[in-house]
Amino acid sequence: MKITPTFRNGIGMPPLGFGTYQLSTEQAELSVKEALTVGFRHIDSAEGYYNEEGTGKGIKSANIAREEIFVTTKLFPGFQAWGAPEKTYEQTIETLKKQLKQLQLDYVDLYLIHAPLAELRLEQWRALIELKKIGLTKHIGVSNYNEHIIKEIIDAGMAKPEANQVEFHPICNRMDLTRYMKDNSIVPIAYSSLAPLSTWRTEEGQGGEVMAEIKKESQWVINEIATKLKVSEAKLLLRWGMQQGYSVLTKSNKPERIRENFDVFSFEIPDSDMEQLNQLNKNQPIAWAASGLNPMEAAPALKSKKL
Ligand SMILES: NC(=O)c1ccc[n+]([C@@H]2O[C@H](COP(=O)([O-])OP(=O)(O)OC[C@H]3O[C@@H](n4cnc5c(N)ncnc54)[C@H](OP(=O)(O)O)[C@@H]3O)[C@@H](O)[C@H]2O)c1
Repeated sequence: MKITPTFRNGIGMPPLGFGTYQLSTEQAELSVKEALTVGFRHIDSAEGYYNEEGTGKGIKSANIAREEIFVTTKLFPGFQAWGAPEKTYEQTIETLKKQLKQLQLDYVDLYLIHAPLAELRLEQWRALIELKKIGLTKHIGVSNYNEHIIKEIIDAGMAKPEANQVEFHPICNRMDLTRYMKDNSIVPIAYSSLAPLSTWRTEEGQGGEVMAEIKKESQWVINEIATKLKVSEAKLLLRWGMQQGYSVLTKSNKPERIRENFDVFSFEIPDSDMEQLNQLNKNQPIAWAASGLNPMEAAPALKSKKL
């Protein structure tokens, strides 16, 4: 499968993107600039990362034409279980406007609802449709939505999401959801591709120690295949996601790793090794586990099915 850094999918998104979760504002500025300098052309941000000012500065200082860069950001929808009030239609519109100021951008390429955590999620989706109409985002989508929650939108007669960003790696391979998204022309975006590794989120407070036992069982297979193909384990996992048809995201605050993670276009994982990696599936999400939440299963009952 020929995947090139200049490839763009149906919504103009490159196959590989740089994520900004768990970066301080200062780290976001430096790392985003570094990522754009080594060749990344997709930056993934979020209201809930509290660093969009740094991300905006990093984008600006890289001095690359705006139309060459694909910028995604996300709405934090609110979550009553965490005491965070749900955003209304108007608040959703205002939130993107505020985010754009912080990012120093006139528009983003993709705006997502971060997770289906609000009873008001259909109202929020209606606001995203409006945000696209008025040009503040080119495309709209969701994140952490399963088939059932996507269907709520379709059943309400509204435009369906153009993309869905989900945790996706060999331990959590979501083949049914992947097929559903393909059948419905919803662009799949992978986050936390490196979650199976022992080097994932190792700094104090990052929550990477969760699921260590489950991960261990997979690590020797990942190591064996990476060694055979003479690539790092990180590159193997990013490439696996891309070969599954996903646009993949990865994050680091280290220039050498940012460079390494972009170097995933010069090798291919043979079918037999892809299959062996597919066998590692345990349908086990890891990325949000430290918060005690599986965002794909946390949706409260809808406030209203009709809008
Ligand atoms: N929608 C959602 O709910 C959601 C959830 C999670 C993530 N995301 C998005 O997806 C992005 C990617 O997910 P993620 O942050 O979990 O990133 P990731 O790339 O899967 O993992 C990052 C972790 O792996 C380490 N790492 C990075 N490159 C490495 C390498 N070459 N070798 C060994 N270790 C390496 C990093 O450490 P250092 O930083 O110390 O190098 C960091 O601890 C996020 O940043 C965010 O934008 C979205």
